[in-house]
Amino acid sequence: MAQVYIHTFGCQMNESDSLRMLESLARAGWTAAAAPEEADLILLNTCAIRDKAEQKLYSALGRYRAVKKARGALLGVAGCVAQQEKEKLVRRAPYVDFVLGPDNLAALPELVRSAREGTRQVATDWMDSEAYVFPRADPSQSRGRVTAFVTAMKGCDNVCAFCVVPHTRGRELSRPYADVVAEVADLVEVGVRAVTLIGQNVNSFSGGCDFASLLRRVAAVPGLARLRFTTSHPHDFGEALIRCYAELPVLCPHLHLPVQSGSDAVLARMRRDYTTEAYEAKVAALRRALPGVALTSDIIVGFPGETEEDFARTLDLVERVRYDNLFSFVYSSRPHTAARLREAEWGVVPYSVQIERLGRLQALQRAITLEAMAAKVGTEVEVLVEGPSRTDPGKLSGHAPGNQMVNLDGDAPAGSIARVAIEGATVAALRGRQLAQVAAAPATARPRRARLPVVA
Ligand code: SAH
Ligand code: SF4
Ligand code: F3S
Repeated sequence: MAQVYIHTFGCQMNESDSLRMLESLARAGWTAAAAPEEADLILLNTCAIRDKAEQKLYSALGRYRAVKKARGALLGVAGCVAQQEKEKLVRRAPYVDFVLGPDNLAALPELVRSAREGTRQVATDWMDSEAYVFPRADPSQSRGRVTAFVTAMKGCDNVCAFCVVPHTRGRELSRPYADVVAEVADLVEVGVRAVTLIGQNVNSFSGGCDFASLLRRVAAVPGLARLRFTTSHPHDFGEALIRCYAELPVLCPHLHLPVQSGSDAVLARMRRDYTTEAYEAKVAALRRALPGVALTSDIIVGFPGETEEDFARTLDLVERVRYDNLFSFVYSSRPHTAARLREAEWGVVPYSVQIERLGRLQALQRAITLEAMAAKVGTEVEVLVEGPSRTDPGKLSGHAPGNQMVNLDGDAPAGSIARVAIEGATVAALRGRQLAQVAAAPATARPRRARLPVVA
């Protein structure tokens, strides 16, 4: 049987797309290869968010080219770099057999068929909103998984000056809410316990109801133990969502709400349509409604024109908000973005300064994260057990409601919820001991199948 190996870069949207591609190939008789060397088709699902992400594609392509030579495997490029580069990609890497944009996942079996016959295709046209059908998870392939991503919407209509996503993922389109709820119900039926609703701008959902109503509908699916969502833009985060946090026990007490900068002047140039004051007011309202809620964020340092004073404001904001965790990046100039056109005018921040600022921000956040993690020592948390720990051999691993990773001694099966006494903490994970199993694994859950070949 023909085997496919998928190498996934980038965000949850890509992880989810990789599974959908694998499922559609499985329907055409393909199986998952454990390693690229065993594959008849190697698919790179790529990310264009920063220059480094794009470089990763080209170095991976170089490696896989050798496999292609040795085995005659087909090589396909999907995802955001495929959408951004289109035909240019085939010109730059002529050994690539096909190029597939995120809107064209349904065309994959056809592209593979023609590539086998020697015809190279580049499928990067946008689909009409009316014609687009969201790929749906195949529940039979998800049997035995504890967690799953479910797509709520695609694309992004925001205009953040630094961001390539509107260009690579197109206009926002929401999935009809009934489809989202039905997919969650199907996944729960085969044993999935925790669902993360995904979209680049998920809280602007408009598939027949608003996002808060979607959360309420999904939360009502019987047997769903945990619900999360990502990513939210602050301008669509308001009262209705805060009430969901206060009222839906299934909704995990964690919010990822990227702020991007602590300087209002930088936020304005970034075209983020809020001030730090408005952002912090939302955080405060959420914390009033749900004390102890975990909060995480994204920050870009060294955006064009960022002064030392602007950056100091970012450090101050991080001190005030005290995020549980933070993803921080140096600004990377991307094609087709508004910021790229204004870089000279605003003033490029030298790379050495960007790196130095990133170091200071990350040191500050490490201390705050460690403090938040250490505060959990001596408490009891409920952990959704996902299986053997990958970082702590001999232990089990899972996540706390606030999304902290927990490695534990115990015997709770994957898919069950264990009450865990927390005994230790690092910036990356909590460590603890199982006290009791508070919810059984679903009867439908079976031992995990061979891992799908999706790697970071
Ligand atoms: N839709 C999400 C962000 C998705 S991209 C949102 O609006 O919050 C994930 C993160 O990558 C962003 O939050 C931002 O912090 C970072 N990012 C995006 N474009 C970038 C760029 N050009 N350079 C550096 N970081 C960038
Ligand atoms: Fe990019 Fe902004 Fe859209 Fe997020 S909201 S994907 S940062 S344009
Ligand atoms: Fe990257 Fe595309 Fe996601 S650019 S972050 S894979 S939407």
